Amino acid sequence: MPMPGAFQPSADLAEDLLRVYGSPLYVYDGDHLQQTLYHITQAIPYRYTRFHFATVTNGNVALLQLVRAAGWGLHANTPGDIYLGLHAGFEPEAIVYSGSNLNRDDMAQVLAWGITNFNLDSLSQIEQLCDLYQTLDNADRHPCLRLGLRLNDPALTSDSRIGVRPEEFAAAQSLVIKANESIGAANIKLGGLHFYRGTGTNATQAFTQVIDRVIELGQHLPDWAYLDFGGGFGHPYRHGGAAFDWPAFGQAITAKLNQLSASVDLVIEPGRAAIAGCAALLTTVVSVKWQGDRQLAGVDTTVANLSVPSVHGGYRQITALETSPGSQTYPTDVCGNTTYSRDYLGRNCQLPKLAIGDTLAILDVGAYGYAMASHFLHRPRPAEVLLQAGQHRLIRRRESYPALILNQIV
Ligand SMILES: Cc1ncc(COP(=O)(O)O)c(C=O)c1O
Repeated sequence: MPMPGAFQPSADLAEDLLRVYGSPLYVYDGDHLQQTLYHITQAIPYRYTRFHFATVTNGNVALLQLVRAAGWGLHANTPGDIYLGLHAGFEPEAIVYSGSNLNRDDMAQVLAWGITNFNLDSLSQIEQLCDLYQTLDNADRHPCLRLGLRLNDPALTSDSRIGVRPEEFAAAQSLVIKANESIGAANIKLGGLHFYRGTGTNATQAFTQVIDRVIELGQHLPDWAYLDFGGGFGHPYRHGGAAFDWPAFGQAITAKLNQLSASVDLVIEPGRAAIAGCAALLTTVVSVKWQGDRQLAGVDTTVANLSVPSVHGGYRQITALETSPGSQTYPTDVCGNTTYSRDYLGRNCQLPKLAIGDTLAILDVGAYGYAMASHFLHRPRPAEVLLQAGQHRLIRRRESYPALILNQIV
C-alpha cells in the first residue's frame, strides 16, 4: 500500500463540520492515519522490529488509541507523554521513554508508572535511575529495566546536547554493574543504543549512510540487545517534492541488521512521518483586502493555534475548498486574527479571489500542530474532530475564555 497523500476534506464535508463544531477546527482522518502506520510497518521487513509512535507530535488520546489499535507502541519524550499514553490504554511495557534532564521526582514518577525501557542521555541520569531503582521496595521494583544509551557521536549527531559519547559507554556499564551488585541481581540490563538524527529529514540517505557506524557503535556494548533508530523521518509538506523513502530505508536497515551474528531488536519511533499528513486545520476567511496584486486574507485562526509556519519557518500548503477548477489564482498572504506582526499562516500562497465566509484548509498539520498550540496571544484553542469510517466525532472541545484564567490566582 502506498503512503497516502495529504488529507483534505471536500468542500461539502468541511461545511458540515464547521456548521456542527465551529471554526477554526482541527480535523483528523483516522483511516488516513491507519494507512500511514500500515505503510511504515510494511516497509521494514526486519523480523525483530517494533514501532513506537512519538507522542511529542500529537497527544490526543483518541488518536493514540488508533495507534495502539494498529499494534504500535508509544515513544515518550517526557513524563507527560507517558501520562497520555497510559490514558490511551498502552501497557507500560509498550512505552519506550527517551529522556533528558529529568529531576529525581520526575524519574521516580516514571518508575512508579511501571515504565521499564529507558533511553538516557547522560551518566548522571543513569546514576540517578540506578540509585532510585535501588531505593525501591522489592515489591515496587520491576524485575527488569531495559536501559539504552542515547548516542552522542559528533560525526553523526553534530553538536547535539543530547546523549552519551562512545568513550563514556564503559563508565555507564560500571554504574549499572555497581547497582546490580548492590541489589544482588542483574535486574538492570544496559543493552540499548538510541540514535536520533534530528527531526524532519526527507533525505533517505541521511539515514541509510549512517547505519553502519551506528551498528559499529552498538557493538561496543557488551550486552547489545536493541537498536533504537529514531525518530526524525521527514514528511513531504511540499507535495510532489522530496519524500522520505520508507521501503528503501527498510531494505537498507534490514540488510545490515541481518548480517549481525546475534540478532538485536530494532525500535523505530516516528512521530511526524506517521501523523503529519492525516490532518487539516479548517479556518474561515473573515476579511479580504488587496495591496496591489497581493491578496491579504484574514482568517479566524492564528499562529498560536498553529505555530510552525510563522515561528519555525515551516511550510504548510493552504487550499481554498470551494474553488472551481482552473480559476485564476493570486499571490496571497493568509493572516491570523491578532495584530502580532508575525501572524501569518502562509505567505505567497497561490489562491483564488476569496470572499468572507470562504473556507481554507491548512494541510499536513497532524504533527506539531495542536501539540504546539499555546495561549500566546490569548486566543482559546480550537476543537479537534476525528473522521472514521464515514462518521465524525469531537475528540477535544473548543476552549472558551475561562481557559485563559485557569490556575490564575486573583
Ligand atoms: C528521541 C525522539 N524520538 C522521536 C522523536 C519524534 O521525532 P519526529 O517527529 O521527527 O519523527 C523525537 C522528537 O523530538 C525525539 O526527541
